Amino acid sequence: MGKINAAITAVNGWVPDYVMTNQELEKYVDTNDEWIQTRTGIKERRVLKGEGKGVSDIMVPAVLGLLKKRGIGADEIDLIICATTTPDMVFPATANVVADKIGATNAWGYDVSAACSGFLFSLATGAQFIETGKYKKVLVIGADKMSSILNLQDRATCIIFGDGGGCVLLEPNTEGLGVIDSVLKSDGSGRAYLHQKAGGSIKPASHETVDAREHFVYQEGKTVFKFAVTNMAQACVDIMERNYLTAETVNWLVPHQANRRIIDATSERMGIGEEKVTINIQKYGNTTNGTLPLCLWEWEDKFKKGDNIILAAFGGGFTWGAIYIKWAY
Ligand code: UT7
Repeated sequence: MGKINAAITAVNGWVPDYVMTNQELEKYVDTNDEWIQTRTGIKERRVLKGEGKGVSDIMVPAVLGLLKKRGIGADEIDLIICATTTPDMVFPATANVVADKIGATNAWGYDVSAACSGFLFSLATGAQFIETGKYKKVLVIGADKMSSILNLQDRATCIIFGDGGGCVLLEPNTEGLGVIDSVLKSDGSGRAYLHQKAGGSIKPASHETVDAREHFVYQEGKTVFKFAVTNMAQACVDIMERNYLTAETVNWLVPHQANRRIIDATSERMGIGEEKVTINIQKYGNTTNGTLPLCLWEWEDKFKKGDNIILAAFGGGFTWGAIYIKWAY
């Protein structure tokens, strides 16, 4: 038998109905639609409303839709990997919650915490279980309910993020399609610039941490922007060179949707035109772990079997990287 690759054989996405426009944000902070669109490319984002709803309420409809599309039962899933920065609870892992809610009685699972690169890291990890021949069906989910950690008094962060996510199914492929290569990186010294100050073991929740609004995203935008532009583009160039890909032979760039200017800088560095780049930041903002599966879902109809696709991300940690896949269907 030939080498086993991990191929994406189905993809699905899900976003909540509620649309929060830039105009609505003007009610909370001193900002305006023109600034947000010019500086980020975002027009609106989705928000998951409702008491007691967590990120699993985004993941579950996405997964149920995927199972239906692929025509398989939840009991056929071997492993569930959930990339999220906003788990339902600190513990247990949201993967357990999802498995329970969908009835994946034969699966085990765990969460991956790598901020905006979580889906990329999870895809690379899930692929290994297929490549070794150990498993036949691995579910990789990326989603966030960013509204749960957004400070609606901080205009530098609350305008960027949104809720949503999606999932892919990985199955064995022996035709040379699927995940081909990955360049994955992290640099923990970047944690100073993008993090959540309280709620972890250094600073457990207290009245003081709540009063100081420390359970929200903290970001030094300018610094993160500089690192993101440089590193995401470099990872893409590295993976192209390693795989002898050129601007002509790359069919699609699927970039993390953090800022339209970062996306444009990355595609420019790769020498590829906008028509080959998946961009939906204007509709959903930055859904953190959700951006890549949401792009795959929305562009699924345009991808062709054998297409060379580069997925790329940059996020808190710092974490970043690129994955090269050959689309399998
Ligand atoms: O996904 C994880 C990784 N995250 C990222 O990749 C995000 C990277 N960073 C960014 O995307 C950008 O840095 C932001 C969108 C967060 C901010 O854009 P920027 O162009 O870097 O703005 P800035 O922070 O340098 O601020 C420029 C000006 C400042 O005013 P002054 O000091 O020049 O008078 C800010 O106070 O814009 C002001 N400003 C705003 N004005 C209106 C900052 N936020 C806003 C706002 N509305 N929401």
